[in-house]
Amino acid sequence: MPEAIHSKSSVEAERETGGGSLSAFSEGLITVSDPAAAAAEAYRTLRTSLSYAVHPPPKMILVTSPGSAEGKSTVCANLGVVLAQAGRRTLILDCDFRRATLHKIFGLVNTRGLVDCIVAKHSIQELYQEPVSGLDLTVLPAGDLPPNPSEVLDSWHLSQLLVEVREEFDYVLLDSPPLGLVTDPAILATQADGVLLILDAQKTSMEAVRQATRRLRDVGATIIGTVTNNTQTSSAYSC
Ligand SMILES: Nc1ncnc2c1ncn2[C@@H]1O[C@H](COP(=O)(O)OP(=O)(O)O)[C@@H](O)[C@H]1O
Ligand SMILES: [Mg+2]
Repeated sequence: MPEAIHSKSSVEAERETGGGSLSAFSEGLITVSDPAAAAAEAYRTLRTSLSYAVHPPPKMILVTSPGSAEGKSTVCANLGVVLAQAGRRTLILDCDFRRATLHKIFGLVNTRGLVDCIVAKHSIQELYQEPVSGLDLTVLPAGDLPPNPSEVLDSWHLSQLLVEVREEFDYVLLDSPPLGLVTDPAILATQADGVLLILDAQKTSMEAVRQATRRLRDVGATIIGTVTNNTQTSSAYSC
């Protein structure tokens, strides 16, 4: 099971000294702003773990965590970048229909997105955005958030879209809301090959981890790895 650990404090220090241009990107996109940073290296190690340590390599990966603000979207975005940097055709879908943030991380417009593809049957390819020049990274923001997120995610049309994008990309990453708060990630887990569970070293309780893993097990999901975010060590590594 891959486990990438990086220090929030060291990431912040690296941002201060790093010379990368962020312009439209959010500061959470360390793999673009400062690819030489230790945190960016941790993402590359996570990529290696996913590609080689898990058999067969998962193609569709759900990124979730027990609670809110534990780093799901940040990990999802940076993992997508490093996969694309390795030449893998990568798609990130913002499936967090409660608190969509991927468009902010990548500096994208969010007028239309995945919700429109599911609800209004808009062509998914027409809404793809490629935020990082020179990278085969495609991002689909959430779009207008629906009043009934769980029902929209549980729809036959989304299942069909996921089958479609599997053919088109090497990796599909699904960003999602917290497992401990809503049922949405459990629904998405049934479609994914594996789940990457994000934990916050300072916030996530053991009980929350137990509940999250139970929820995933209940729907037959496979946890392919955990990422512990916000560790207070001075090192950045993965194993
Ligand atoms: N390793 C990190 N170092 C510094 N800030 C981080 C790190 N991971 C997440 N954050 C910040 O924490 C906040 C919540 O992260 P986010 O990825 O949106 O969490 P979630 O998707 O779980 O709600 C954001 O402001 C993000 O920039
Ligand atoms: Mg998020």
